[in-house]
Amino acid sequence: MSDISSLSRRNLLLGAGAAFSLVLLGQEGLATNSSPSKDKKNKQLKANDYFNEDILHRNEHPLGVSPDFIKSLQEECGTAPFHHYKYLSEQTTLLKKAISRKLNTSEDLVYLAPGAGPTLEKILNTVKWDRGSFAISDPDFYFLTRVAEYMKLKVFKVPTTDKYEVDLVGLAKTGANYIYFSNPHVPYGRAKTRQEIEVVLKSLEKNQILIVDEAYIDFSDRAKDLSCVDLVKKYQNLIVVRTFSKIYGLASLRIGYYVTQNKKFSEYFTIYTISGLSAKAALLALDDTKRFDETFAYIKMAKEKVVAAAKTSDLKYIASEANFVTLLTTAPQREKIVGELQKKNYSFAAAGKSAFLRITLASAKELQDAVQSLAVIK
Ligand SMILES: Cc1ncc(COP(=O)(O)O)c(C=O)c1O
Repeated sequence: MSDISSLSRRNLLLGAGAAFSLVLLGQEGLATNSSPSKDKKNKQLKANDYFNEDILHRNEHPLGVSPDFIKSLQEECGTAPFHHYKYLSEQTTLLKKAISRKLNTSEDLVYLAPGAGPTLEKILNTVKWDRGSFAISDPDFYFLTRVAEYMKLKVFKVPTTDKYEVDLVGLAKTGANYIYFSNPHVPYGRAKTRQEIEVVLKSLEKNQILIVDEAYIDFSDRAKDLSCVDLVKKYQNLIVVRTFSKIYGLASLRIGYYVTQNKKFSEYFTIYTISGLSAKAALLALDDTKRFDETFAYIKMAKEKVVAAAKTSDLKYIASEANFVTLLTTAPQREKIVGELQKKNYSFAAAGKSAFLRITLASAKELQDAVQSLAVIK
């Protein structure tokens, strides 16, 4: 079975048995302990505790930063003059300039923020103050849906289409004054082009804000065709959110940014923005184009491997433009794959209502284990 985007969701779910979703967790991401049996138990607990809460935190990539990057950052820590670490660090100014250059956009439109997540949280606060409504694709960035519900916002959850894509028209039809989706989309990895998004932007009222989360865009072969950054100059109701957490591998340094011409959002992070050291790290990461290219190539190769293994085992999958691949499994298939991975000491948590097994593209060892486990389906 091939690319699921050409198949009907209903047909797939009919074969899927009980609704379920699984997350592959590699051994390398887990805590270690002295005794092997205790070790195993702790690993299991840690994984389950976390994943029952939120399955998205593993959406980084396994390569991390390069040795050159680490060396340069260490040098910076050892030699940086004090003024680098003032509130409004010179590094943050430089970073803003570097990002604007990379995006080929005006510096006035770019705002640094301590991550895409906190930016989105701030936007949710605005929804609340405005007594507005919020529309989000369903599923999408799980954390955001949860926060919106926690804040007791009026939330419209718009199901993905039968091709597992964001339903842009459906989102617009809600009439919500804040509309969000991730592009490429979490968790399925499908993506919308800038042209498709612009059609919907044109249909919105001026007071309807569209938030496009491009956290995973750098993993796509056609990032340039997808990105909405170029539309920001034209539409005052558009916000594009980005992060250094994914392809740059700097999640814990908390570096993100957003692009908008809407002054309503311009004052958010201007004083307490990201730290000078994080800004320096981001500048080094932007300069490290070799690592960027290596990461991109690794993820592409890993994706091809998982897809090839899925095809060999006649498993349905969703063609993804991000760094994860979702497999649509039937209940017996799922059980077999999970059993195989458990033999290799991987842990799982079941959550949600979808019938999918999502594989975040992982280290070579984890990847090999995943691919081998898919082979039990024949
Ligand atoms: C779609 C999406 N947006 C944003 C984030 C969070 O990004 P950041 O680490 O910059 O807060 C995530 C993290 O998993 C994500 O999946």
